[in-house]
Amino acid sequence: MPEHALARSFEIIGDDYDRYRPGFPEAAAAMIVPTTVDVGLDLGAGTGKFTELLVDRARRTVAVEPSERMLQVLRVKLPDVEAQIGAAERIPLGDASVDVVTVAQAFHWFDRDAACDEIARVLVPRGALGLLWNRSDPTCTWDRACHRIAHPAVSEADATTDGAAEELPHFELVRREEIHWAERISRDHYLRRWATVSSLLVAEESTRARMLGEIGAVLDSSADTRGREMLDLPQVTDVYVYRRA
Ligand SMILES: C[S@@+](CC[C@H](N)C(=O)[O-])C[C@H]1O[C@@H](n2cnc3c(N)ncnc32)[C@H](O)[C@@H]1O
Repeated sequence: MPEHALARSFEIIGDDYDRYRPGFPEAAAAMIVPTTVDVGLDLGAGTGKFTELLVDRARRTVAVEPSERMLQVLRVKLPDVEAQIGAAERIPLGDASVDVVTVAQAFHWFDRDAACDEIARVLVPRGALGLLWNRSDPTCTWDRACHRIAHPAVSEADATTDGAAEELPHFELVRREEIHWAERISRDHYLRRWATVSSLLVAEESTRARMLGEIGAVLDSSADTRGREMLDLPQVTDVYVYRRA
């Protein structure tokens, strides 16, 4: 499956993505935007799951996202945000017009070098770039087993470092943190969340049903989840804060 087909899988969902995907901890937003800025841009904003934390920290918030379906949800949820169709490789904003750019759970979909050129172009000198990813907690064996079903090609080593960003052109890394938090989530919500993950979205109906069946079987067999309606799901959020060099 080509990467771009997986990236475009988000074009077919909106409401379900917003309903079932996890949000981000407030502490992550505080690390990237410690004091109020004039203009904040959330890039690859999706339905606004991180944008909603940015609005409290920027006098003007812009969301750029290629999927109209995702943006429709964002516009309803966050009517004061300037929502624009666009991509990281071609940001529809002027030079040096943004104080901080945030990218939640999306940087891995971008053409890295082209996106860094564009982000550096729209940022003011010494402007901040915050990248963040939620990932499963490696100590949670049942969640890790479900990840292996949904992402069979991802090795365990990759899975535990999938939030890792490298050195980026135009940027210097100034802070890197791992935030541990937990969600209380119903079994049904957890299963529906998996149905919003790109590998399941693009799978044949029969493959998707098999994967969801196997994930359900993990929940039926693990001591932490068996027979439980409510699950305690640990999460890790990787946060990387860069400055425009
Ligand atoms: C996993 S979703 C994350 C959405 C949102 N930031 C969040 O955390 O809920 C990835 C998003 O990246 C967007 N995306 C994919 N390729 C992109 C690109 N080249 N430029 C900007 N956004 C892109 C997708 O449309 C999708 O909304």
